[in-house]
Amino acid sequence: MTPAAGFLTFLCVTLVCLGGVVVTGRAAKRKAHLSWVAGAVVGLGVTIYFAEGLGERYDLEAAGWIYPFHLLLAKVTTGSYLVVVGSGVATIKQSSHRKTHSRIAYSVLFLTVLTAITGASMLLAATPLA
Ligand code: HEM
Repeated sequence: MTPAAGFLTFLCVTLVCLGGVVVTGRAAKRKAHLSWVAGAVVGLGVTIYFAEGLGERYDLEAAGWIYPFHLLLAKVTTGSYLVVVGSGVATIKQSSHRKTHSRIAYSVLFLTVLTAITGASMLLAATPLA
């Protein structure tokens, strides 16, 4: 699989899994929620793997400020998954944490979308290597 095909495939897999995470979380279907979370985390890992391969085919420096901005955002977003997992575990132990988990989860989803948008903008502004 080429890096571009792998990246697009696993980005879609991750988005579908995140949809499953939100639907099952809202419906309080905990077992299904955890399965979708595991799928989303694995999907995200594979997407990042292919994204790195894709990045090697471009002169990303040519994209300007969006390159370091996207890299910073990608690191913050990846780290924020640890926070949402932590708040999810806290919600299992004590259900009163559900509102906090929900707020953190939607913020992480927003960061994920923002990371995808800045990543796509970065590639569009970069110069493909011969
Ligand atoms: C190991 C990781 C996680 C655990 C243990 C966990 C656990 C939970 C639990 C216990 C609930 C409440 C369901 C209930 O009331 O029975 C919940 C709801 C929810 N979770 Fe998670 N979760 C995890 C990760 C995530 C992730 C990664 C996201 C999305 C980025 C997410 C999004 C949500 C949403 C949107 C809700 C519904 C909140 C609401 O509408 O009130 N969760 N989760």
